[in-house]
Amino acid sequence: MELDKQDIKKTVFSGVQPSGVLHLGNYLGALSQWVEMQNQYNCIFCVVDYHAITVKQEPKELSRRILDVVKIYLASGINPEQAVIFQQSDITAHTELSWILNCASARLADLNKMTQFKEKGAKKESVSVGLYDYPVLMAADILLYNTDIVPVGDDQVQHVELTRTLAERFNRDYGQVFKIPEASVRKQGARIMGLDDPSKKMSKSASSPANYIALTDSPEMAAKKIKRAVTDSGSEIKFDLKKKPAISNLLVIFSLLSGINISELETNYKNKGYGDLKNDLAEEVSKFLREFQIKYNSFTDEEVKRILKDGADKIRPVANETLRRVKEKLGIN
Ligand code: TYM
Repeated sequence: MELDKQDIKKTVFSGVQPSGVLHLGNYLGALSQWVEMQNQYNCIFCVVDYHAITVKQEPKELSRRILDVVKIYLASGINPEQAVIFQQSDITAHTELSWILNCASARLADLNKMTQFKEKGAKKESVSVGLYDYPVLMAADILLYNTDIVPVGDDQVQHVELTRTLAERFNRDYGQVFKIPEASVRKQGARIMGLDDPSKKMSKSASSPANYIALTDSPEMAAKKIKRAVTDSGSEIKFDLKKKPAISNLLVIFSLLSGINISELETNYKNKGYGDLKNDLAEEVSKFLREFQIKYNSFTDEEVKRILKDGADKIRPVANETLRRVKEKLGIN
């Protein structure tokens, strides 16, 4: 039998939480990778709303943000004709598999090692069980679709490693079901740092909006944020993560947005100062946002709802088939 080309394509799965504003770090670390992958692979991109409710959300705002995240996917260049876009809570197999993995594969010792839970939980007075268990739901997301590649920023690599552990343990204890996925992170851009503090990553839960460039910031606001970004001591424009973390971060952002590699940027700014770099980067970021937001504003809620429904309808049978095999192995089918 001749294999259809489609059949031998690898599967890519990734997702973004509809919590807080999406920022340049999400775009450069994750979304821009997805766009590059969609021509080559079977791509599935999820809006992970069940992950978002691990911390309290305002219901009206959450439903708004779910649609807005899809608009961000589309504005980034994800083509719903090529890639499947869907909402996690539309496919019940995610929470079902998550529970099964909780029982059959995940151990407290695994979850106790997760650094993101420690960081997110530390700032809160009361922490939901869901926040602790969140990486198991993420494993379920990935494993349901026989995923080969998970394009993410570097803060999610530990969760993909856990996914591998859970899958391998299940396969060993109950018989082969799951494919073992791999994380894909950018060489540069895997961790875009905060503009106000280059020792912390750019984050949607940052306490100050000076930390990030939101993809919905006005180009003028974004330019201001770049111009106010903290810099390092000295005046030389050089990529050096240890000695010049702030300038290195600006160079990475500049390079990824402009397509000019970092050594070329270093040469271009040899006899110039931090102010020159910031002015040019401010312009580059504004230009990017202007074009991005024209696309972002061109999609209607109705279109987005249709894309989500079609995506879920298309991909649900794959998830249900994996769940069926898992239940069969457990004797609960
Ligand atoms: P989330 O919503 O926090 O972030 C979405 C994606 O953006 C990346 N990212 C960054 N990349 C570079 N620099 C940064 N400063 C930066 N901040 C965020 C994240 O690494 C991520 O790729 N648990 C996930 C969502 C998720 C998921 C999944 C991802 C749920 N299920 C299955 C992949 C596969 C999260 O909270 O991402």
